[in-house]
Amino acid sequence: MSIRRQWLTRAETNADIPTIHAINAAAFDTPMEADLVDALRADSSWIEGLSIVATDEDGKLIGYALLTRCHIGETPALCLAPVAVWPEYQNTGAGSAAIRAALKAAEDMGEHFVVVLGHPAYYPRFGFTRASTHGIGLTIDVPDEALMALTLDTDHPLPSGTVRYAAPFGI
Ligand SMILES: CC(C)(COP(=O)(O)OP(=O)(O)OC[C@H]1O[C@@H](n2cnc3c(N)ncnc32)[C@H](O)[C@@H]1OP(=O)(O)O)[C@@H](O)C(=O)NCCC(=O)NCCS
Repeated sequence: MSIRRQWLTRAETNADIPTIHAINAAAFDTPMEADLVDALRADSSWIEGLSIVATDEDGKLIGYALLTRCHIGETPALCLAPVAVWPEYQNTGAGSAAIRAALKAAEDMGEHFVVVLGHPAYYPRFGFTRASTHGIGLTIDVPDEALMALTLDTDHPLPSGTVRYAAPFGI
């Protein structure tokens, strides 16, 4: 059984970039997500301060979460992707720590809406709900439960519309 630990979180610095690439390359089956992060960093969808690392007490990078600009219809929103943790550290809370820190940073910036395409067993714990129940959809076919959305501020209910991802996602 894995033990949940307390992880530190902070925004990425330039020195973190190679390790972030390596974590994503290790966490996923192909280099696609690692390359995607690098492409997003050079794209207009990149928002300084929303690329978040989870580290141990010694500063070793363990987990990663990224929010970039997307739109729901015409409304600006954020896309959570990718989220990655070194395989040997998975299920120890590092992914959750990075996600929670990213969402908090976004909220502090005055952002309202976040969408994620991912595992429906994982993301509801952060408040995400099925996007289709809000009238939010995609231009591509995905399992209905895989697209989820979250409002960071209950005064701002989720808009409905089609999610337009940043160009590097190719969606
Ligand atoms: C998915 C991932 C980011 C989760 O981060 P983590 O630090 O390992 O997970 P946490 O410790 O925060 O949370 C553990 C929970 O996540 C669940 N979980 C872990 N990986 C999961 C996955 N691929 N799909 C669904 N749930 C997953 C565990 O079952 C556990 O659930 P429980 O709390 O109900 O027991 C990480 O496991 C990872 O990098 N996986 C490979 C890459 C990937 O699939 N990224 C996400 C793409 S949507």
